[in-house]
Amino acid sequence: MAAQFDITKLMQTIPGLDVPDLKNSKGHGFNCFLYDGLYLFPPATLILKGKSPIAGLQSIKEAAMKDDDVIICAYPKCGTHWLWEVIEMLKSGVIEYRKETKETRMMEIIYKDGIDAIPTPRVLNTHLPLRMLPKQVVEKKVKCIQIMRNPKDVCVSYFNHYRNMVPPLGYEGDFAELTEAFVTGKLCFGSYSDYLLTWKAELAGSPAVPVLDLVYEDMKHDPVKSVKDVARFLGLTTTDQFCEDVAFACSFKKMKHTDKDRKLGTAIDIWKEGSEGTFYRKGEIGDWKNWFTVAESERFDQMWNKKMKDSGFKFTYTPV
Ligand code: A3P
Repeated sequence: MAAQFDITKLMQTIPGLDVPDLKNSKGHGFNCFLYDGLYLFPPATLILKGKSPIAGLQSIKEAAMKDDDVIICAYPKCGTHWLWEVIEMLKSGVIEYRKETKETRMMEIIYKDGIDAIPTPRVLNTHLPLRMLPKQVVEKKVKCIQIMRNPKDVCVSYFNHYRNMVPPLGYEGDFAELTEAFVTGKLCFGSYSDYLLTWKAELAGSPAVPVLDLVYEDMKHDPVKSVKDVARFLGLTTTDQFCEDVAFACSFKKMKHTDKDRKLGTAIDIWKEGSEGTFYRKGEIGDWKNWFTVAESERFDQMWNKKMKDSGFKFTYTPV
């Protein structure tokens, strides 16, 4: 997918697809389409064939859920890869890294047919809001685990992810431009504040759905406790030793290292050649301090607090 082409222009030729212009004054912006009020990244393989992704997204609602399914629900860059590996190990009872990439379990990439084809036990993941998930998530009370992270580190991680991605999926603007897109919601999956508020509101409408809230910073601070919390929530019988082993195997250094091996076979080709693109970049709390100027940080706080001050969400911005 190395070839450069204007995917936004291509999307605009697809009947029924709502394609907003998210470019800023410098001509930089995310290539997204709008689905049910949310900006989503274009699946390049479909778009190149002139096909709309809408039917696939709609099909997700009809996917059959199984009693032992687990769904990781999170905004991008909050630690989904980490949590996915933890849950896979806990459920399988074996300390072994998955050969497949997490993206092979991502609902908005694989749609209904892909979801239905995964053998149980399934650990699915998504950045979509509850209203776009299979109807049976609510009907069958499927267990969901939400992982959240402080928004400034999410913003930095988001920037490093997209600036290293191949065109037309990547982002050409600088960090200040990305931050502006991040706080105004002009990016894939919309703004993080909207994601959290929407998730909370939609869950309030379906309170029977069991959800475990995890926080990236807590997981960093005490990974063993977080692993035990997950095991308890999933009703798994595990020993303390096994939880410690899982936490250790899923530490940042270990996962970064094993990712290199796994990449040989199965990783998706999304990073620019010669870039430092990786899902395991730095894995720290407070890296935002190396990126934001004081003025940018203040504006970010102002924009964030305007929407979030009464929301109940509180975050840790520096390591304890
Ligand atoms: P950074 O870019 O700040 O390093 P996601 O999996 O949702 O895409 O999130 C990616 C972020 O989680 C990246 O953050 C990545 O380094 C971090 N991450 C991945 N594995 C981790 C681990 N085992 N421990 C801590 N952080 C991890």
